[in-house]
Amino acid sequence: MRHLDERRESNPYPWAGSRAEMDRLEMQARVQADIISREVQILGLKRGVQLLDAGCGTGAVTRFLAASVAPTEVCAVDMDAGYLDEARKLAERYGITNVRFDLQDIEDLKLPDQTFDVSYCRLVLYHVSDPLKAVGELKRVTKKMGVVAIVDEGGVLTYPYLTKFETLVEKRGRWWNSLRTRESQNYRNAYSVLSAAGLSPIEVNPIPTFASQESPEKLRQLVSVPLKRLEIDKEPMIANGFVTEQEYVDGIEELKSFPDNPSAFWMLLSVLTIGACTSMKTD
Ligand SMILES: C[S@@+](CC[C@H](N)C(=O)[O-])C[C@H]1O[C@@H](n2cnc3c(N)ncnc32)[C@H](O)[C@@H]1O
Repeated sequence: MRHLDERRESNPYPWAGSRAEMDRLEMQARVQADIISREVQILGLKRGVQLLDAGCGTGAVTRFLAASVAPTEVCAVDMDAGYLDEARKLAERYGITNVRFDLQDIEDLKLPDQTFDVSYCRLVLYHVSDPLKAVGELKRVTKKMGVVAIVDEGGVLTYPYLTKFETLVEKRGRWWNSLRTRESQNYRNAYSVLSAAGLSPIEVNPIPTFASQESPEKLRQLVSVPLKRLEIDKEPMIANGFVTEQEYVDGIEELKSFPDNPSAFWMLLSVLTIGACTSMKTD
C-alpha cells in the first residue's frame, strides 16, 4: 500500500486517524438518518443491488446502505486504515455482516470494470486531489446501466440569521480551500464533475431536513454537528491565521445559544446528484 502513503504525504487528509472526527462522522449520520433514508429510496437500494461506498469513513452510512441491500454484499473503500478498522469494529457491533471493507484510493481503484449498479460517494469528493479522476474511476467500475451517485452538503439556512457563526464558517471555508489542490477547487460542484466525466442524464435531488422548537432534540442535534466540526478545526484555523481567537469564541457562543431561541429554525440541505453511465457517446 505504498502508493497510499505517498498520496497521503502529497495531499494530507486533515483528519486522518482523528478520534474526534470519527465520533463526528457517527453523530452526523445519526442526525441525517432521514436524509440517508431518502437517498436509499431515490436510489432504489434493495436486495440484489451491487453497491460501492467510495470513501466510507467509519461506515456510519455504509451500515445504513448495507441494511437496505442485505444480504447482498456491499464493497466499502477508504484510504484511511484507521477509519476502516473502526468501520469493521462498528459493523460487527451492530450486527452488519454484508460489507467488505477495503483500503483503496478512489482515484485509483483496484476493482474490475463494470462491477456495480450504484457507485455511491458521500461527502468525499471535495477531499480528493483530483475529483474528475475519481469520478472517472467510479464510472469505470459502474455497470453500463448503472449510476454514480454523489452526495454533497448544500448549506444551512437559519432563522434568526447567525452573523458571527456565518463569519466563522466563511473563514473556516477559506482555511479549508487553502489545503485543496487546484483540481479540487475547480470541481467543487458534483453536477459539473459528473458532466465533465461524460455521465448523462444527470439528476439533482435536493434533500432538506429541518427542526424548530417543535422538535427541540432534533434542533440540538442539528446544531451539534457543525459545533463539533468547528471545535475540531479550531487549532489549525487559528494557528494558520484564518480566524482570530475572538471570532472563534463569538461564533461558537452564538451557535451554542441558538437552540434556546424560542423562534429558532434550522434547515440543512443535502444534495444527491446522480449521473447515469448510459451515455450515447462512445468511450
Ligand atoms: C467526510 S468523510 C465521509 C465519510 C462517509 N462517506 C460518511 O458520509 O460518513 C470523508 C472520507 O473520505 C475518505 N477519503 C478522502 N480521500 C479519499 C480517497 N482519495 N480515496 C478513498 N477515501 C478517501 C477519508 O479518509 C474519509 O474517511
